[in-house]
Amino acid sequence: MSEIFNLETKTLWSFKERGEWGTHKGDYPGNWSPFVPKNIILRYSKEHDLILDQFLGSGTTLIEAKLLNRRGIGCDVNPIALDLSKNRIEGVKGSNSIQLVKGNAKNLNFIKNESIDLICTHPPYSNIIKYSKDINEDISLLNIDDFYESMRAVSKEAFRVLKKGKYCAVMMGDIRRNSCVIPLGFNVMNLFLNQGFRLKEIIIKEQHNCSSTKYWEEISLEKNFYLLAHEYLFIFFK
Ligand SMILES: C[S@@+](CC[C@H](N)C(=O)[O-])C[C@H]1O[C@@H](n2cnc3c(N)ncnc32)[C@H](O)[C@@H]1O
Repeated sequence: MSEIFNLETKTLWSFKERGEWGTHKGDYPGNWSPFVPKNIILRYSKEHDLILDQFLGSGTTLIEAKLLNRRGIGCDVNPIALDLSKNRIEGVKGSNSIQLVKGNAKNLNFIKNESIDLICTHPPYSNIIKYSKDINEDISLLNIDDFYESMRAVSKEAFRVLKKGKYCAVMMGDIRRNSCVIPLGFNVMNLFLNQGFRLKEIIIKEQHNCSSTKYWEEISLEKNFYLLAHEYLFIFFK
């Protein structure tokens, strides 16, 4: 009997249980809940479509793509992420067309123009979590201005490789510096809109189980600010 999965129907998402089916595990820093890519893939693609996650991490998106019988391309600059993803993707049954590439989301020269059916991706939030010490292309090592410049290149490549009439889902969160909010989410959203994407949805996702919460709780009381507890999932349309 096939499993019944209730797709999200509103623009406010919250997954208290992150989802541990298949080979998913919540052990990679800043990984997203598999409920996120599962919702996006089911709503915006069909079987055998080609899904891209150019910020692969531990492979959550492509594990879901494989389980849902979609083809996939994943790329990451960090060989640790690629090894982890390879094992986890091999550990589930489904599509036999999943390709992993050590590469830079700013330059997807291994992907042809307008060949991707759905982009579903989760970049670093500037240098909030550093994914490596010294990988040159790692955008998690960049300060905010350089991060925006890189995300401009990422959005340009995303627009180039996506087919017309298809969707690009990008998750991004805001950050706080010197007690004030830097709206990384909306600023990155604007970079994608400036490439020519149209805005289909802004989904607010509640954050759960952040390892840094205790630290921020104390500072927020001392400096009198609210804890950031949401991320944005932007759904762009080409
Ligand atoms: C937020 S994590 C992705 C987590 C993933 N969604 C998961 O569930 O495991 C961001 C990833 O982007 C990678 N990364 C950083 N700069 C990159 C670049 N220029 N191109 C491709 N990947 C990059 C990091 O190595 C990290 O694995």
